[in-house]
Amino acid sequence: MTRFVCSPGGRVGGNIRVPGDKSISHRSIILSSIAEGDSHVTGFLQGEDSLNTVRAFAQMGVTIQREEDRVKVTGVGLHGLKKPETDLDMGNSGTAMRLLLGLLSGQAFDSRLIGDRSLSSRPMGRVIEPLRQMGAIIESEPGGRAPLQIIGTTDLKAIEYDMPVASAQLKSCLLLAGLYADGTTVVRETAPTRDHSERMLRGFGADVHSHESGISIRGQQSLTACNLEIPADISSAAFFMVAASIARDSDITLQHVGINPTRTGVIEILKLMGADIELMNPREISGEPVADIRVCYAELHGIEIPFHLVPLAIDEFPVLFIAAACAKGTTRLSGAEELRVKESDRIQVMADGLVALGVDARAQPDGIIINGGEIAGGEVDSHGDHRIAMAFSVASLRARDDIWIHDCANVNTSFPGFVKLAREAGIGVSD
Ligand code: S3P
Repeated sequence: MTRFVCSPGGRVGGNIRVPGDKSISHRSIILSSIAEGDSHVTGFLQGEDSLNTVRAFAQMGVTIQREEDRVKVTGVGLHGLKKPETDLDMGNSGTAMRLLLGLLSGQAFDSRLIGDRSLSSRPMGRVIEPLRQMGAIIESEPGGRAPLQIIGTTDLKAIEYDMPVASAQLKSCLLLAGLYADGTTVVRETAPTRDHSERMLRGFGADVHSHESGISIRGQQSLTACNLEIPADISSAAFFMVAASIARDSDITLQHVGINPTRTGVIEILKLMGADIELMNPREISGEPVADIRVCYAELHGIEIPFHLVPLAIDEFPVLFIAAACAKGTTRLSGAEELRVKESDRIQVMADGLVALGVDARAQPDGIIINGGEIAGGEVDSHGDHRIAMAFSVASLRARDDIWIHDCANVNTSFPGFVKLAREAGIGVSD
């Protein structure tokens, strides 16, 4: 089992580029596979999660040629996918499983989705239930868990659906199923969530509308291949934003980071805590806003995290909790029960890790209360959750003693090369 050992102290600096956006990487393979013609993708995330998506479409007969972060996909058209010979293994990726379930629900062939232990314990009922309303035939393990067996049907009907949870995975799953349905599918959100699917569908020429009354997609329309440049992942950049904010004398620039407004909650929360963050050279690339981000050390103070920012920072809370542990005063998070069903129970696992390092952290049913103070050092268990492992590596910058982090192999799902890049930037982590 991979473990990280982090030596205490240090500061971060330099001009670095973190790997490509995970959410956009998954979507680039999914949409280009069912488009007509050759699509070229650059900046693709070479992490285990997005590579599982590549393998799944290759199993369904799509020709995908990849050279590092450059991918050429020869699309087979909306109805050109082939029945996979074996199970489609989504590994650790909730995004891959939920988005593919939507797409596979409308195929003429049967298929089966499987995942690792963490993914097999995550709730799939939230996607299965509306898909069944559309006419999908899906069998799951008790409690709506994977493995998921999909019986092929070409008979999906469009629905109008009010999402009970703020989830871009659920929204995207239904938009993909909607592409195969008869009629126009409408999805309504309780709060805005990441809109990469909508933006990218438009880039592939699809007729998708976002308006007050929801997001609508017309079924049976074909997609046209396109070229995509994927920006660096703000969720990976977040580790360095917090690192620079908590370590005295730090000054780091993160290049070419996606700053889609449905993802920038981490920047807004850190700024509310007093962080010194500057967005430079804003531009738009492949339909997504991008900027270089400069972060310098600043004294942080605790805050009550505004409700509306929770879905916009949903993946960044592990490292934001580290920022809170280093801030003066109390930080309170509520309305974030979704964190309990991520790759791990991120509320409990972070609270346990923080307490193990001597921080006053109290888990709540839907959030956490953290009193900033000293970080001692010690051993924490990441429970195989990539973002928890990286968050505690960042904490070492302010620790008094070494931090040992267990079960870190899954860092490769979202951030291959993390240890090397973190060391170059000034974090004393080794594996
Ligand atoms: C994602 C959506 C989020 C996020 C996940 C990626 C996506 O999940 O946590 O890492 O790519 O759509 P939910 O939509 O379930 O909140």
